[in-house]
Amino acid sequence: MSIMFQTPAKRPRKPADLPIEPHRMDFRFDGQVPRYWFGNDPFLTHFLSALSLLFPEGERFFVDAVRHFRDRIADPERQRDISGFIGQEAMHSLEHRTFNAFLEQNGYPADKLEGVLRQELQKAREETTPLQQLAITVALEHITAVLAELMLEHEDVRDRLDERVRDLWVWHAIEETEHKAVAWDLYQDVGGDYTTRVTAMLKATLLLIYTTTRFQTALMQRDGLSRKPLVWAKGIWRLWGYKGYLSRLAPAYLSYFRPDFHPWKIDNSPVAKAWRRRLSSLA
Ligand SMILES: [Fe+2]
Ligand SMILES: [Fe+2]
Repeated sequence: MSIMFQTPAKRPRKPADLPIEPHRMDFRFDGQVPRYWFGNDPFLTHFLSALSLLFPEGERFFVDAVRHFRDRIADPERQRDISGFIGQEAMHSLEHRTFNAFLEQNGYPADKLEGVLRQELQKAREETTPLQQLAITVALEHITAVLAELMLEHEDVRDRLDERVRDLWVWHAIEETEHKAVAWDLYQDVGGDYTTRVTAMLKATLLLIYTTTRFQTALMQRDGLSRKPLVWAKGIWRLWGYKGYLSRLAPAYLSYFRPDFHPWKIDNSPVAKAWRRRLSSLA
C-alpha cells in the first residue's frame, strides 16, 4: 500500500488564538466529595478513578516520547507548542496525583496500582523503539482527545459528576483539546508511517482497556463489588451499550484510521475556549 504524507504546508493547523499553556490548578479533594462521585454509580466512579490512576505515569511516558524527538523541530512556534504540551502534561500528572492520593486516603490501593503501571511502562520502554513510543503516544493522545470531547460536549455525562471532581476532568479535557495535535505533528515530521501508527493504536487500545479494567476491578474489590454481576452489567451497558458514553465515541475514535486524518480537521477549539473562560477564575 502506498502511503501519502501531507506536507506541513497542507497540514491543518491549530487555531492561532488557542495557546498551549500550562496552568497550575491546585485542586483539593476532601470528605465533601461523595464516595461515588459519578452519578452515585460505583462502576462509573471507579472507571474514571482507574483512568486517573493511569495519568501520572502514562503522561510521563508521553512527555519522554516527545522530548526524545523535539530537537528535530526548527520552527520556534512548534517548539513553543511542544514546551506547552510538556508543561500541561506535567501539571495533569501533578493534579491527578493529588486525586489519586485522595483515593489512597479513602482506602483504595492507588499507590500500589501506580507502582504496577510504572513497572509495566518501564518494560514497554525497554521493548520498543523511540518511534514506536511516539506512535503509542500519538494513539493515546487521540483517545484522550476523544474522551475530552465527551467531557466538554456531552452534558448528560459531565453533569453527572460531582462539581468538585468535575473541574479536574473539565480542565484536563480543555488542555487535551488544546494540545491534541502536538505529538501527531511531531510524529509526521520525524517520518512516522501509517502502519506503525495504526498498529500502535490497536495495541494501545487493547492495553488501555485491559489495564483500566484491571485497575477498576481492584478498586471495586475494595468495596466488595468486584463480583456483583448486576453492577458490572449496568455499568458496561452505560459505557458500551446503545448510545453509551464510549460507544457513541466510535466514529471519532475510528477517524484515526483514515490515512489523511489530522486532529485539527475537526476544529473544536470554540468549545475548549468557552470552557477555559468558565474555569479561568480557578487558574
Ligand atoms: Fe493530560
Ligand atoms: Fe495529552
